[in-house]
Amino acid sequence: MSRKPIIAGNWKMNLLRGQAKDLFEGIKSFVKDYSAKELPTIVIAPVFTSISAVEAVKCDCGCGGTKISIAGQNCHWENSGAYTGEVSVEMLKDAGCDYVIIGHSERRQYFSETDEMINKKAKAILAGGLIPIICCGETLEQRESGVTDQHIASQIRAALSGISSEDVAKSVIAYEPIWAIGTGKTCDSDEANRVIAMIRNVVKDVAGAEAADSIRILYGGSVKPNTIAEQMSKSDIDGALVGGASLKADSFNEIIANTMKVVVSK
Ligand code: PGA
Repeated sequence: MSRKPIIAGNWKMNLLRGQAKDLFEGIKSFVKDYSAKELPTIVIAPVFTSISAVEAVKCDCGCGGTKISIAGQNCHWENSGAYTGEVSVEMLKDAGCDYVIIGHSERRQYFSETDEMINKKAKAILAGGLIPIICCGETLEQRESGVTDQHIASQIRAALSGISSEDVAKSVIAYEPIWAIGTGKTCDSDEANRVIAMIRNVVKDVAGAEAADSIRILYGGSVKPNTIAEQMSKSDIDGALVGGASLKADSFNEIIANTMKVVVSK
């Protein structure tokens, strides 16, 4: 089994359409020199209003859109209806998305998203033919009181509840310790790897060995060009969900380049 690395840029609530297009062009001009096979899977999550701006320039390099995929930063689990302010999986697919980030700690914290809602979203995303990037992570308080593993395991069990092994295998999980997000405090890479291996064990328990071996589990939280090589060298870290450092083409491209330098078969 080989797991292709993923480098995903979470632009959060940043960049107007023109800025999003410029940044996307900056990433494209770096990736054009490499084949899709050489590159990690690259995923960009702009705000909803900028998806069409980046989608419009996604495929004009002749790669057929295979080098950079687009993700929504959230979705609703229903296809359509009276849910003011929400966007459905079908709509994201229609806009050109292949992935959807769900359960980000900022959504759990500021928008009261529960494990149950995240599970419904994961099911809707998979049913709609897209791939969920399911985020999990502990607060500093939880880490200090020694409940990290227990908390993450319960988030993962809830998120994957009722999903077939086949669908779990194609999903993506991002382990993002909340205290490391946007703080410049990266989690020690051995510790991140330990938690990610623990998550893989939970996946094995709920969906079997094959799914656990196939699912890609990313680390997120202050990933920078100078941290990624060490993170990628670890046995269970399959890539990164990058916030701050994805907002500049130079730093995001360097993260991609440094990922390609680490040749580890996982
Ligand atoms: P950060 O954000 O890289 O700015 O820490 C990561 C994330 O929230 O996905």
